Amino acid sequence: MENLENNLKILKELGFEEIFVKNTKEELLKQLNEEIQKCTKCDLHLSRTQAVLGEGNPDAKLMFIGEAPGADEDRLGRPFVGRAGQLLTKAIQNAGLKREDVYIANINKCRPPNNRTPTIEEQEACLPYLLRQIEIINPSVLCLLGATACRGILKREVQITKERGKILEWQGKKVFLTYHPAYVLRNPKEEGTFFEDIKKVVELARSDG
Ligand code: URA
Repeated sequence: MENLENNLKILKELGFEEIFVKNTKEELLKQLNEEIQKCTKCDLHLSRTQAVLGEGNPDAKLMFIGEAPGADEDRLGRPFVGRAGQLLTKAIQNAGLKREDVYIANINKCRPPNNRTPTIEEQEACLPYLLRQIEIINPSVLCLLGATACRGILKREVQITKERGKILEWQGKKVFLTYHPAYVLRNPKEEGTFFEDIKKVVELARSDG
């Protein structure tokens, strides 16, 4: 403490009037979480148990983006922890990473009633939170899981069965398009393709700096 005071004194003598201490990523994400828990920008707040920010390594190079929390996520306050989440976790582990190595988030932070797809208005109302999350974490690769994630980021309708496997550019980052794991659960013959896609995106993040 004494050391800190001495150093501040020296800086003052050198002419520094104000010193700004930069928040850590963890602090910025905590602030963002406090904000979304109070959010009333769309009607999804009326039926939520809690908003779900996302979780993972704040320094992750690879960030997964899904659609919105489901029943399990709404109850537990964590993203992708239900059946679809377990499949995603398995695919990440199969690619040689741990779930804690990556960051996992969603376009919408609140659960839509009966797990319906969030409306475009609901997606747009929530999007600034995800954009701030991306800015804080600053991953080099985004993996978009399904059509809603693609629409939210790319601002166009994407038929994921036609475009999965594509690597695109978005604001200086690489963006990889693949199925939503819930789609894979409904279409188990696509599981191999999904696992291969997750291997590719993990490799892309490894090779990208
Ligand atoms: N589906 C999503 O898109 N996100 C979750 O967090 C869980 C299921």
